[in-house]
Amino acid sequence: GGDLGGLSGGNPGGNPSVGPGGPPNAASLFAGLLLPPEAMMPPAYWLSISSTLPPVVPWRSPSFATAFIVMTLLGGIMIIWAVRTLLVPVKTLALAAEALGRDVANAPPLPETGPLEIVTAAIAFNTMAARVRRFVEDRTFLLTAIGHDLRTPITRLKLRAEYMEDDEQRTKMLADLDEMEAMVSATLAFGRDAATSEKLVRLDLASLLRTILDDAADGDPAHAEALSYAGPEHLPVRARPLALKRALANLIGNALKYGDAAAVTLHLPVRGIARIDIEDQGPGVPPEHMERVFEPFRRLEISRNRETGGSGLGLSIARNILRAHGGDIILANRPGGGLRVSVNLPV
Ligand SMILES: Nc1ncnc2c1ncn2[C@@H]1O[C@H](COP(=O)(O)OP(=O)(O)OP(=O)(O)O)[C@@H](O)[C@H]1O
Ligand SMILES: [Mg+2]
Repeated sequence: GGDLGGLSGGNPGGNPSVGPGGPPNAASLFAGLLLPPEAMMPPAYWLSISSTLPPVVPWRSPSFATAFIVMTLLGGIMIIWAVRTLLVPVKTLALAAEALGRDVANAPPLPETGPLEIVTAAIAFNTMAARVRRFVEDRTFLLTAIGHDLRTPITRLKLRAEYMEDDEQRTKMLADLDEMEAMVSATLAFGRDAATSEKLVRLDLASLLRTILDDAADGDPAHAEALSYAGPEHLPVRARPLALKRALANLIGNALKYGDAAAVTLHLPVRGIARIDIEDQGPGVPPEHMERVFEPFRRLEISRNRETGGSGLGLSIARNILRAHGGDIILANRPGGGLRVSVNLPV
């Protein structure tokens, strides 16, 4: 490919004529190059060739550009394919973790197939899920067993307390024993809930809320006026009906018990999450107790003073139920007084 920049012949003797035997043709010129130097002495010719090769610019070549584009595209497709293939199990793992968080008892195991590393990760995940499940079951079993076994001595103590001479002491003791009995029953119910896991079904959240409010009004006619519902006529969600009803009834019951009112507002789902606000007109919850009231058996002093019976399990059960649905409960004091309980629930 190089072009012959210059071709000049000359004889060192200064003879202007062009060598012996007439003008040189190309063959004889090049033949001279193959001769040893002594053979090139006069009357042979010197041949000087200068040539400029074009600079190497492969991307200017159309064939190179085509090959480059094709290879880049193919390489890109292969990389995307490989990354996708590698990421699929990661996504499956994320979904499985999410499912386990929502429902420890019924979450399906991860398939243990694929490349070695994925199988190892899946086995590790399934082992962990089994341990978590056993841990939860053991804890629930222990709780129910203690609750169950405490019932007999409590009954016995109640019988003995009846024989106490001091009237005042007897009344107080019986009240304490009643409280203990209520706590034990609540614990047993808690264990029973954890053991029986309902199936998720489609239900109408708006109707469910109105039913709970109607029931609350029937149970507490004095406060029927203070109960209200605002929101859509219907809102289908996927949920466990009995559990969700228990959770929401707990919250509405609290609003009535401690706040003398329950204004329920159902907001249409935003990014797949419906929100229920339950507002009351009570004292609210001091900010430092906002998380504490969710602890089992935790009751604030104000509620003790008001002599509202209760075991302190309501909020903890309600939060458990909502979290098992992938939602949550958030407390906030309203600027105008009273508590706002916000319930988030994926539809
Ligand atoms: N709407 C509210 N306004 C003010 N305080 C509240 C409100 N809801 C709950 N609390 C406080 O939080 C505590 C815990 O509530 P939680 O529902 O867990 O138990 P409880 O109502 O006392 O008993 P249970 O619900 O088990 O019958 C209550 O005792 C009360 O002090
Ligand atoms: Mg309660």
